Amino acid sequence: MQLPLEDYLSNRRSVKIMDMKGEAPSISELQKIMRIASRTPDHGKIVPWRFCVLPQENRSSFCSLVEKATRNRYSDPSPETVEKELSPFKKNLGIIILIFSPVDHFKIPLWEQQLTCGAVGMNILHAAHAYGYVAQWLTGWISDDQTINAKLGLQEQEKIAGYFYIGNSDQKPEDRARPNMSEIITSWEG
Ligand SMILES: Cc1cc2nc3c(=O)[nH]c(=O)nc-3n(C[C@H](O)[C@H](O)[C@H](O)COP(=O)(O)O)c2cc1C
Repeated sequence: MQLPLEDYLSNRRSVKIMDMKGEAPSISELQKIMRIASRTPDHGKIVPWRFCVLPQENRSSFCSLVEKATRNRYSDPSPETVEKELSPFKKNLGIIILIFSPVDHFKIPLWEQQLTCGAVGMNILHAAHAYGYVAQWLTGWISDDQTINAKLGLQEQEKIAGYFYIGNSDQKPEDRARPNMSEIITSWEG
């Protein structure tokens, strides 16, 4: 059931990967999600982002990469630590990696390009909900791991903006603390 937009925007929450289950989006749904997410304000129309999908059929080789990186990161990690790092990639979830891909431009500063990429990220979450899914945006150490990023084909100037995990959930997550609006809104007195 589609909620009116105001209800949806007022109540959307991320759902933790461990609470996701059920069907993952199909590749065609992921493509639609990325298309919607790309409808984002972009000063100069320079597209400072790209996506990398982690398809189900390549997850076991991605898990091998993550396992190797985990063993490099922690000296002699416990089997539980290794399993914890691998678990998001073993679940039946859609996974999109959002890559910040800055453009050397005479007029558009890096900061604005970063803002655009962040807006694409927020749009991925909304687009996932539009197809009835829930989602979570995570970075973590894995996003900065040089060996994994090299295997993902990142160029020197690129950076991972996030891994987006998309799945189903039959639970409504409790809300988290939200900003006190009176602390973040002022009205200019002239
Ligand atoms: C760029 C970015 C990176 C994040 N990385 C992590 C992370 O590595 N680990 C984590 O626990 N939460 C991380 N979060 C926060 C989660 O996305 C969290 O689910 C979210 O803030 C919950 O808020 P919401 O329910 O309003 O979506 C990150 C958020 C952003 C925007």
